[in-house]
Amino acid sequence: MNNSVLILDFGSQYTQLIARRVRELNFFCELHPFNHLPENLDDFSAVILSGSPYSVRSEDALLPDLSKIKGKKPLLAVCYGAQYLAHFNGGNVAPSNIREYGRANLSFIKENEPLFDGIAIDSQVWMSHSDTIKELPTRGVCLASTNDVVNAAYRIDGEQTYAIQFHPEVSHSIDGKKLLENFLTKIAKITPTWTPDNFVEMTIQSLKEQVGDEKVILGLSGGVDSTVAAVLLNKAIGNQLHCIFVNNGLLRKNEFENVLKQYEGMGLNVKGVDASERFLTALAGKSDPEDKRKTIGRVFIEVFDDESHKIEDAKWLGQGTIYPDVIESLSVKGPSATIKSHHNVGGLPDFMKLKVVEPLRMLFKDEVRRVGKTLGIDEELLGRHPFPGPGLAIRILGDVTAEKVQILQEVDAIFINGLKEHNLYDKVWQAGAILLPINSVGVMGDERTYEKVVALRAVESVDGMTADWVDLPYTFLQKISNAIINKVKGVNRVVYDISSKPPATIEWE
Ligand code: XMP
Repeated sequence: MNNSVLILDFGSQYTQLIARRVRELNFFCELHPFNHLPENLDDFSAVILSGSPYSVRSEDALLPDLSKIKGKKPLLAVCYGAQYLAHFNGGNVAPSNIREYGRANLSFIKENEPLFDGIAIDSQVWMSHSDTIKELPTRGVCLASTNDVVNAAYRIDGEQTYAIQFHPEVSHSIDGKKLLENFLTKIAKITPTWTPDNFVEMTIQSLKEQVGDEKVILGLSGGVDSTVAAVLLNKAIGNQLHCIFVNNGLLRKNEFENVLKQYEGMGLNVKGVDASERFLTALAGKSDPEDKRKTIGRVFIEVFDDESHKIEDAKWLGQGTIYPDVIESLSVKGPSATIKSHHNVGGLPDFMKLKVVEPLRMLFKDEVRRVGKTLGIDEELLGRHPFPGPGLAIRILGDVTAEKVQILQEVDAIFINGLKEHNLYDKVWQAGAILLPINSVGVMGDERTYEKVVALRAVESVDGMTADWVDLPYTFLQKISNAIINKVKGVNRVVYDISSKPPATIEWE
């Protein structure tokens, strides 16, 4: 695709952030391991080299082959990339004897340099490296410095090669996004064509070509990714798409009925399959969390396989895979980067042998939401909190019974509806209730009770990898606690979880 950007990953924790910033600027980009150049290299109009935990001076330094890139395409090298270009092209990189971590401010910017257009001297940048560029490479021209780092940015004369030692992708580099934009629009001179509207148009066209007149099966979960994937496929191939929505009996209160109705309202060809009993029977007596997860996974595959056999002649399996899952399967560790693949299909259920179509595999989560909005999907559905596949089973500590599911559904509904009514739902990344496997003593009227304890959990997070508990107003917690204890039979105590992740996790199992 013309106008697209190639990002070569040297293993920095920030590489995905570079990609997200580039996408936010409406440029399409792909992330590839530093030693696996894409076959269609000619299609990329600019290249960015990421940072890395490695040192260019060490024996295990990562050494890309840039012969088809450097001097031939607009190139922006960040941190390790900048040091790599210096070290192996006549410059000198050495351990830094001063602190080059964290905030710094630019103290010099060379005039009339398009990379720094609109960026003021004193702009804050974020450094994170233990080596530093002592001498620039051949034909290197210093573009910016901080008080401690002379060669904070440079370019190579006669080439469209630019390098910076700070990280423009992190939000602490205040003008970082501007710098990336300058590189893409003023140096690489590419056009920002990556918008949700364009994505939808292009994807519908390519899905039509890919699938032709064949049938696709897709499992809906009620979540954002599978829904957006289904709506895109539906726009491309209409009723050739057969969706299956399974009730595992572990969903939220009335969720199966409500979501099914919503799907039908969107014009999706969807079959709701109530397999609650099958799941609960398989779970009976199981209290180990991993055992419960495996059981639910196995039964889901069985149910889905049974249902997919009823759709004759299906050739494709639609999936809501998104870009972070794709990137995770690419490794940058060492020169033998491997791309995981699953060629061995022997012994798999039949639906897993279908050809796979993944309309969202190039999108980040926030882009999936933007595309969903463009497609006219209900905001409420797009803003829904994440919900784990094994559902309430991993929020009922210990063994799972129909009665416990029903108690937890009631508690959860009071909590979630309360968050919505008090305009707190959108301020929380994920919330839910946990049914503890203990009873506690209470008193109701003149009677002593000995009933269940529930915990409420509400966290803020970006991607679920780290999280912190939300400081919900006491008056809100008080109302919810009263409502739960008064309305849900079998519960006489409510506690609020104030643990962060790490060291705790979001779910209790
Ligand atoms: P933890 O508990 O690991 O959860 O902090 C992080 C995020 O992952 C979700 N989660 C799951 N999602 N199957 C899923 O589909 C699972 O087995 C599972 N376990 C945790 C969790 O809800 C949170 O969003």
